[in-house]
Amino acid sequence: MQVKRAGVVGAGTMGAAIAEVLAFNGIDVVLKDLDGGLVEKGLARVRHYVDELVQFHAERGDKELARIKDLGVTLTEQQVAAVRARLAPKVSRQRGDEIIGRVHGTTTWEPFGNVDFVVEAAFEKMEIKRQIFEALDPVLPEFAILGSNTSSLSITRLARGLRHAPQILVTHFFNPPVTLPLVEVAGGVETREDVITDTIDFLQGLRNHRYPLVPIRVQESPAFVVNRLLIPVLAEACFALQDGLASARDIDQAMKAGAGMPMGPFELADLVGLDVTLDVMETLHREFQDPKYRAPPMLRRLVDAGHLGRKTGRGFYEYA
Ligand SMILES: NC(=O)c1ccc[n+]([C@@H]2O[C@H](COP(=O)([O-])OP(=O)(O)OC[C@H]3O[C@@H](n4cnc5c(N)ncnc54)[C@H](O)[C@@H]3O)[C@@H](O)[C@H]2O)c1
Repeated sequence: MQVKRAGVVGAGTMGAAIAEVLAFNGIDVVLKDLDGGLVEKGLARVRHYVDELVQFHAERGDKELARIKDLGVTLTEQQVAAVRARLAPKVSRQRGDEIIGRVHGTTTWEPFGNVDFVVEAAFEKMEIKRQIFEALDPVLPEFAILGSNTSSLSITRLARGLRHAPQILVTHFFNPPVTLPLVEVAGGVETREDVITDTIDFLQGLRNHRYPLVPIRVQESPAFVVNRLLIPVLAEACFALQDGLASARDIDQAMKAGAGMPMGPFELADLVGLDVTLDVMETLHREFQDPKYRAPPMLRRLVDAGHLGRKTGRGFYEYA
C-alpha cells in the first residue's frame, strides 16, 4: 500500500493533528471541514503543531547546555560544540514550512477524487459520519482505503451497503496524535483482511513528533481497548467528585501520584473534550447495557452548559 496523497475529513482537534502527522511523513493531505472558517482554524492548528516542533528543535541545544550549567558543570568549547552537534535541529524552519505546505484546505469533496487513504475525524455521531461516508463513496478512487477515527461507533454499520465497504475500517488515533503513537485498527464485517494488514503496515512505517506509530489490531467492539478501560475511570472520578470524596484537583493528584497516571482523570476529560467523553460513555452504555458505563449527571450538566473542556476554555477546570 503506497500512500502519496491522503485526505482528512474534519479539521478539529483530531483531524488537524492527523493531517499534520501524515504531512510530517511526506504525504500530501487534503483537509476538509464544513466552511472556510473551520478549514482555516484547522490549518492554523497544523501550523501550531509544526511551529512547536520547529521551536523545540531550535532550542534543544541551548536548553541542554543551560541544564548542564545549572548542574554546576563547566564544559570545554569542544564539549559545547559536541552537545550542539548532537542536538542540532532535525526539523528546520524550512522543513517545517514544507510540512505546512503539504496540507491543503478544502470545503468540497472533489479533491478526494485522487487520494489513496482517508481518515474521517468528524463529530462522533452516526448520522454525521454516515453522511460523510455516503458522500465520499462515489468520489474516492476504487482502491482507496477509508479509515474512521470513531471512538465507539460500529464501523460495520457506517460502511453498510457502500461500494468501498471492503476497504473501510477503524483507524483510531489518540489525542494528541502528534505525540501519542497508538492507533487502534479494527475491521468491520465486510472489511477485507489485506486492507487491515496493509493499513497496519502503512501506519507502522509512520512517525509522529516523538515516536514511530504503534498500530494494534483490535476487534470491532465499542470503544476498543483504551477507552473501554479508561472511560469507567473517568465516570467513577465524576461520581467520586459528586459524592464529595475529594476535590477535582486532589482526585487528579491522587491518580497521578498514587496510580502513576501521567494526567488525572479530570485533566484528561478536559483534554479529550467533555462532549466527546459523554458521547463515548453513552455509546458504551447503550451497547453493553452495563450500569458501570452510565454517564454521571455532573458531566451531562457541564456539556449542557457548553463547558466542554480545554477547547471552550472551561470544563472541570478553567483555562486562560
Ligand atoms: N478528542 C479526542 O480526544 C479524540 C480522541 C480519539 C478519537 N476521537 C474521535 O475523533 C473524531 C473527531 O473528534 P474531535 O475531538 O477532533 O472533534 P472536533 O469537534 O474537535 O472536530 C470535528 C470536526 O469535524 C467537522 N465536521 C463535522 N461534520 C463535517 C463534515 N460533514 N465534513 C467535514 N467536516 C465536518 C467539524 O466542523 C469539526 O471541525 C470523533 O469521532 C471522536 O470520537 C476524538
